[in-house]
Amino acid sequence: MRLIFLGPPGSGKGTQAKRLTERLGIPQLSTGDLLRAAVRDGTELGLKAKRYMDAGELVPDEVVIGLILERMQQPDCDNGFILDGFPRTKAQAEALEQALQEKGRPIDAVIDFEINPELLVERLTGRRICPNGHGEWHVKFNPPKEPGKCDVCGAELIQREDDREDRIKTRLEAYRRDTEPLREFYAQRGLLRAITADGEMGRISKQIEQAAQGA
Ligand code: AP5
Repeated sequence: MRLIFLGPPGSGKGTQAKRLTERLGIPQLSTGDLLRAAVRDGTELGLKAKRYMDAGELVPDEVVIGLILERMQQPDCDNGFILDGFPRTKAQAEALEQALQEKGRPIDAVIDFEINPELLVERLTGRRICPNGHGEWHVKFNPPKEPGKCDVCGAELIQREDDREDRIKTRLEAYRRDTEPLREFYAQRGLLRAITADGEMGRISKQIEQAAQGA
């Protein structure tokens, strides 16, 4: 099954992708995670992406498209995948469509995370991540066992540079300008399935599974 999770920053795409990857037996492909790993590793691509990410702007299409198409070549994607945070522009959606058409493996469904925008700021400003890439927590909604410490390695948790309130505003603007039009792109192809993305996490997972299975 090949799924796209589409929704604004903080709508829960990453959280739900992680929950469902095991149940559905397919990997989560997160361009945000791939880019953050490149930044941590100090690669040329990471250095190029960092200033856009820190500012809350989208990384240029050519960088992201190359990265995700390469990731999709790996054998764990043979039975499908969950695309989390990609595509985010029309150019990315078209490049993806073409690459999948060439393989005869089209997208099955696009899960559209609908959420009241007022909830997003609290979700994002409260997020804390492990500096060593062991995961993320939330001060209120998903606290670590010991306050401020990574459950895996004990490192001091940090806030993502782009989770500051001014950067969140920029990210939401980028979403509205560049990504929201993809709802129409996928609705025209009969692939868009809306879910309600606020409330209890298990209930949201169920909605997604039902939407994906009805695809
Ligand atoms: P990326 O990492 O993709 O950030 P994003 O889309 O802004 O995604 P988030 O991780 O902030 O939100 P999410 O919807 O995954 O929510 P989450 O589950 O984490 O991208 C970062 C940057 O990389 C971009 O700004 C850009 O620069 C670059 N980039 C990435 N992809 C790109 C692309 N395709 N093109 C160009 N540039 C790209 O949840 C958020 C918080 O809410 C968590 O703390 C979580 O615990 C909490 N939460 C989740 N669900 C619930 C719930 N039901 N109830 C309570 N709390 C919840």
